[in-house]
Amino acid sequence: MPLLAIETSCDDTCAAVLDGPTVLSNVISSQADHERYGGVVPEVASRHHLELAIPVVEAALSDAGAGFDDLEAVAVTAGPGLIGALLVGLSTAKAIAAPRRLPLIPVDHLRGHVAANFLEPEPLEPPFLCLVASGGHTFLAAVRDHGGFEVLGETLDDAAGEAIDKAARMLGLGFPGGPELERLAADGDPDAFTFPVAMSRDPGLDFSFSGLKTALVYICRDLGEAGTAERAADLAAGFQAAVVGQLTTKLRRALDQEPWPAVALGGGVAANGPLRRAVAQLCAERSLPFKEVSRELCTDNAAMIGSAARFTEPIAYPDYLRFDAFATGPRGGG
Ligand code: KG4
Ligand code: ZN
Repeated sequence: MPLLAIETSCDDTCAAVLDGPTVLSNVISSQADHERYGGVVPEVASRHHLELAIPVVEAALSDAGAGFDDLEAVAVTAGPGLIGALLVGLSTAKAIAAPRRLPLIPVDHLRGHVAANFLEPEPLEPPFLCLVASGGHTFLAAVRDHGGFEVLGETLDDAAGEAIDKAARMLGLGFPGGPELERLAADGDPDAFTFPVAMSRDPGLDFSFSGLKTALVYICRDLGEAGTAERAADLAAGFQAAVVGQLTTKLRRALDQEPWPAVALGGGVAANGPLRRAVAQLCAERSLPFKEVSRELCTDNAAMIGSAARFTEPIAYPDYLRFDAFATGPRGGG
């Protein structure tokens, strides 16, 4: 019996249908409207989710060849994220589950990013070390079982994706900046400008990206508008290399501190080609298996929420009618 999963924590309206670890459908509707504001406008995101939620769920069911009455449970992202956006997903999930007396499974978004690695094909079994880097979070997760994770180190300021999006904006690129910055960086020289690889001397496993962003502000100021435009590819390449450098430095350090049988990635930044190649190389050096989850499952999607739901306690009808979304809060064991 299939499971329906819904994810609306930020600006993507997502629904997926899963049969155990197998993804039967995975529909993602990205909201283009935020591009002209250079970032996600929470109220605009909520309104779009309202318009898109049912069509996206219907598309996911139809792609999976399933109907509402075939479902055995409904999973939904409960947080963390934009509260208005989360509430649309949660209300939609309740409205589908309650009339059918189906159980509801509230899922932590970050557990979802980790759980993308549990999906077919070639699901990765814990224990493994997972680097999660998204627009809102950046941390190293010790994944010892399917039910949660322990944070070994996390960003002390900006998330990697947030820093990348801000850098992309400074270079005149659209939102979200990651894919565009990666494309532009491919034509640039990563060594043309010096960027600090922040926290490289810090013995811990925490990250910091705000200094890197400030470094770019100063370089752009010195270059001026025309100079920045002319050197945009070099700037993008240097910035991207510094982000990848810091992420892999901390990953290497975590592997030095504790033996792990495998390494995985999660979150939108994990779609980045140079990061994937750097982590693949690091793992090859150590003869460690590296689980390369598909790019589509790195950025926000509902299949990963359905995957985490398999290892999350369902709430029976009608108890979940009182259940609320959370903007910030529990993580890991969730
Ligand atoms: O996981 P995600 O889709 O949403 C959050 O949970 O935040 O991550 C979105 C972030 C954005 O900052 C976006 O620019 C970044 O992931 N991103 C990338 C790439 N694709 C998405 N960053 C670098 N390279 C990419 N190819
Ligand atoms: Zn995410």
